[in-house]
Amino acid sequence: MKHILFLFIAIIFLGCSANNIQVQKNNEGKTTINFKADKKYLLLPIEDTGKEYRVDINVNGKNINHYIIRLAEKKIDYWVPVDISAWKGEQIELLVEGLSDSAICLKQIKQSGIFSFDYNEKYRPNYHFTPYYGWVNDPNGMVYYDGEYHLFYQNNPFGTRWQNMSWGHAVSKDLVTWEYQPVALYPDSLGTIFSGSAVVDENNTAGLKTGKEKTLLAFYTQSERGGQWQSLAYSNDKGRTWTKYSKNPILKHPTARDFRDPKVFWYEPTQRWIMTLAVGQVIEIYSSANAIDWTYESNFGEGYGNHAGVWECPDLFELSVEDSGELKKWVLICNINPGGPSGGSATQYFTGNFDGKTFTCDNKPGETHWMDWGKDHYAAVTWANAPDNRRLSIAWMSNWEYANDIPTINFRNGMTIPRELRLVKQPGGNIILANYPVTEIQKLRGEQRTIQPFTISEEYSIKNLLVNNNGVYELNINIDNVDAEIIGFKLFNNKSESVDICLNIPEGKLYMDRKESGLVHFNPQFAAIAVAPIAKKQTYTFRLLIDKASVELFEAGGETTMTNLIFPEEPYNHVYFYSKGGIYNVNKMEIYNIK
Ligand code: FRU
Repeated sequence: MKHILFLFIAIIFLGCSANNIQVQKNNEGKTTINFKADKKYLLLPIEDTGKEYRVDINVNGKNINHYIIRLAEKKIDYWVPVDISAWKGEQIELLVEGLSDSAICLKQIKQSGIFSFDYNEKYRPNYHFTPYYGWVNDPNGMVYYDGEYHLFYQNNPFGTRWQNMSWGHAVSKDLVTWEYQPVALYPDSLGTIFSGSAVVDENNTAGLKTGKEKTLLAFYTQSERGGQWQSLAYSNDKGRTWTKYSKNPILKHPTARDFRDPKVFWYEPTQRWIMTLAVGQVIEIYSSANAIDWTYESNFGEGYGNHAGVWECPDLFELSVEDSGELKKWVLICNINPGGPSGGSATQYFTGNFDGKTFTCDNKPGETHWMDWGKDHYAAVTWANAPDNRRLSIAWMSNWEYANDIPTINFRNGMTIPRELRLVKQPGGNIILANYPVTEIQKLRGEQRTIQPFTISEEYSIKNLLVNNNGVYELNINIDNVDAEIIGFKLFNNKSESVDICLNIPEGKLYMDRKESGLVHFNPQFAAIAVAPIAKKQTYTFRLLIDKASVELFEAGGETTMTNLIFPEEPYNHVYFYSKGGIYNVNKMEIYNIK
């Protein structure tokens, strides 16, 4: 009785917001938000750069989970929903530490049958994957099964900045139209859910199959108070629901703090699963017969490639080398942050051999190969089990330098276009990893405009590329050089914002300058010039995919690629061609509207 009385006195009633939500202070000074669940969502008001609060969710007195949420104190920038439909009729309590009694969220928090917001905000891409709302970074768990490509992704479901790492989920039948699915994996007592991969367990090696569908296995890093370990989840219903393995974690490291991003594949010759993991600045390789018990095999990386940052998100796979008879090579993708060729995050790769235990590299120590030379291509990994022997990748289209600051509202960041990978032998004997948009995106092409061939002796502008240009289009430009030293073309709009693409022939370099591209000041590292080496040749074939807030450039079928975000005030609808030191011909120029 004494106890109850004490509680009663200690609770201070702070008021009632909409839908009978009661706000109080408990005896520990925490804010309690109490209500009976009777709608589908609880809508939380968020202040984008506000303070982070730990929010515990209790249902009928039992703690369900906790998240870190920027509950609005002074102003509401956007809202996020908590799906409470599973707890209909039950008593829900949010417990928040350190929130001031006058915080605006306490008056505005509400239950609602719907969650609506401006999905089509200004910089929402049209044919690139973005989360429905909230934050996204790395693509995860990409696997093809039964006609569906699965894309999981690092997701904050409670805000548009990095936090509360969970696996968001989407599926597609064609790699271009995505259907949002509920969040697949939420954080638990072992930590938040970092990056990882998924496979189809064809032979039920893990023994987790329960029905007629093959089991999908997902491997992911859990991160908790500076420690990182690997866990397993499985699905017996085509990836729709996931069960966390009861004896997680399945793999710990004896010493390393950075131990993450498991990428798993089946290695036929030894009948074992292989897992690559990023450990500081090397890749460790493990193997397993049942996908649960793992044995250390080897590591790779010391002295090889770029070491200006931490290695993350590896991927190891075999590919045929084009026009080389039976020759096959193993490719080890290894993302790195920072240290990229144009600053910040980027994707490097190695080619070599793999014998089931060890990766042996063909590249010389110290030499670095980049998959994409732009600023916004990171955490690239490939789909498991893709049909027709295709090796398909997707990357996060952003950069850790400024990813948390990009000027969008209800969502932040997205993915590159899915790309098909090829190994191409260069004239000097070098083998490079070409990456080019999957052919599926061609079905999105709408109205086409073709420009007759022309010659640039100094400068020439083509105005009004498309009648109703909404910033969603494809541009193909083939250039024959006669004797120019500088070959340039600038996409621009009526506000004099532009992206300047330029070949410097004597230097052997390709530049993409976005310093004047539109909004650039939201972060000092955004305004930049990306640069790639490019061989001197007579014909250059450019394909540019433009989608509201990005330019992906592919030259020579993806032998050189460059991906950059842009935030123009209005779409670039004109092109200004220029030359220096000589002339060149544009012998093909076509523009497609993308539907
Ligand atoms: C790469 C990365 C991964 C990690 C994840 C966390 O961008 O840092 O190494 O698993 O993001 O969100």
